[in-house]
Amino acid sequence: MSNVQFQTNMIFGTPTWRYPVPEMHRFHGEIKEKLGELWRQGYFQRHGSGYGYQTREELFTPANLENIEYLRVLKAKFVEACTRILAHRHGHSKNAPFDVYCIQGWVLIQTNENWVDGPWHHHHPATLSGCYYVQVPATRDPTEGLLMFQRPEPTNIFCENMAAVRPIEGCLTIFPSYLLHRPMPTPSARDWRIGICMDAFVHWHKRSEDPLRKFADEEAYEIARKESLAGP
Ligand SMILES: [Fe+2]
Repeated sequence: MSNVQFQTNMIFGTPTWRYPVPEMHRFHGEIKEKLGELWRQGYFQRHGSGYGYQTREELFTPANLENIEYLRVLKAKFVEACTRILAHRHGHSKNAPFDVYCIQGWVLIQTNENWVDGPWHHHHPATLSGCYYVQVPATRDPTEGLLMFQRPEPTNIFCENMAAVRPIEGCLTIFPSYLLHRPMPTPSARDWRIGICMDAFVHWHKRSEDPLRKFADEEAYEIARKESLAGP
């Protein structure tokens, strides 16, 4: 595990983290070239996959991981960062071993077009979410492109209701997935703001129970899963 230092930024009593990933820097040119190619091919449509210009949440397919080195590196570094973060947990989870069992990833390209105005959203039921910034363009106003967070409790006059984290090229910004957030638009930027966004899903293991044990096999589990989706 690397010795890279986390920078912790507390907002509303909740930590967010910045994690430099120097191992990714050598891929920035390749990633931008690839995205430019996809753009020219018409892959990116306005709101074609989520808000604005996004890829689908399927970056980390087995085929992509086999063929694309920077995805292997980024996934490994994100899992490493999440594992280090989760080592400092509180409450009942303190004694429960965990697995980061799934990482979803997608690319978000933010242009300077007038309509781009990222909506507030969260990434529940993921546990930790992160964004690796491949490119953060210069802007006239320093508040452009900030990652804004909203306090989860009702607005009141005694506390700040908003907080911002500045994206840094070549670094991951990681935050608890339940936090409402939005990227500020970048109307004066001359280039794209490019982020590779990721969600980490975590299993908490309890030694005393294993909820899957009552299913005889995968098929039985699948039947129960479908029934649970059908509702009462
Ligand atoms: Fe998000």
